[in-house]
Amino acid sequence: MSKKRDFFSISSLSLDEAKHVLAVAAAWKAAPKGAQRGLLPGRAVAIVMEKASTRTRVSFEVGAAQLGAHPVVLGVQGSQLGRGEPIKDTARVLSRYCDLIVYRTFEHQRLVEMASAGAPVINALTDDGHPVQVLCDVLTMLENLASKRGELPFERLRGQRVAWVGDGSSNMARSFVEAARVFDFHLSMAAPEGFRPPASEIAEAGRHLSISGDPREAVKECTVINTDVWTSMGQEAETKRRLEAFAGYTVTEALCARAAKDAIVLHCLPAHRGEEIDDATIEGARSRVWDQAENRLHVQKALMAFLLGAA
Ligand code: CP
Ligand code: NVA
Repeated sequence: MSKKRDFFSISSLSLDEAKHVLAVAAAWKAAPKGAQRGLLPGRAVAIVMEKASTRTRVSFEVGAAQLGAHPVVLGVQGSQLGRGEPIKDTARVLSRYCDLIVYRTFEHQRLVEMASAGAPVINALTDDGHPVQVLCDVLTMLENLASKRGELPFERLRGQRVAWVGDGSSNMARSFVEAARVFDFHLSMAAPEGFRPPASEIAEAGRHLSISGDPREAVKECTVINTDVWTSMGQEAETKRRLEAFAGYTVTEALCARAAKDAIVLHCLPAHRGEEIDDATIEGARSRVWDQAENRLHVQKALMAFLLGAA
């Protein structure tokens, strides 16, 4: 039997594997609904959520069903997780029933424990990263660089300037730093001091990352402008301090006008209009957030099928 494959971060895949997953996702997006129904018959996918989720939960659940697998969703409430059952015990039991575990949690270590039994584990967001979201966002960026439908111009992604405006220490920002390194684009980050990626990740990113405290500088020549909430799940006690720290970091149409001419705007959602992004921008012509949300379904289907040896 081949060794199980987890997806903890984008680098859990080689570049060729990541490109393959994105190519499969693009092909499936264009295929008739129901075309992949026969790929994972009789399989079961556990979706374990220790934090709130709309998109991730629904896209994995629908995606598993579209592959012919049976999704089982588990929250903290209503399962023994909320009553203190150790993750390693939950992992061993789920591994006896399920072929794959999709897991959203807090510390990275909990993900490692969930992967300590037999079933492969997909990171569905931790405090440190949101790699499935960012892998999906790479498809959205590629679609916007394509000159014709269905094309995935990886070579054009190389050397693009992508802006990150706001919380540079968030799980999303940190996975974007990783994506810049893996897919060879440049992340131009505007983030206040104290809200930047860990030093080790900055060092690892090297020439793929620049950081400033000036959003107007950072977005210059960027073809993509990206942001995320200022207060992530689990940080609610810091909301006031964060609102103060991020004043001036709202993505607005005026800020976007300083970027490349046809720059697009991404946001993983949920958005707090009036904080990290204003209503006119998220609803405006540059916004690709709804395509971005749709792509969760296609890429995660391809990822699940790949990890289970069916794509
Ligand atoms: N973007 C994202 O992961 O959304 P949810 O928190 O709704 O899953
Ligand atoms: N940084 C956000 C992402 C939500 C999808 C959070 O962790 O709450």
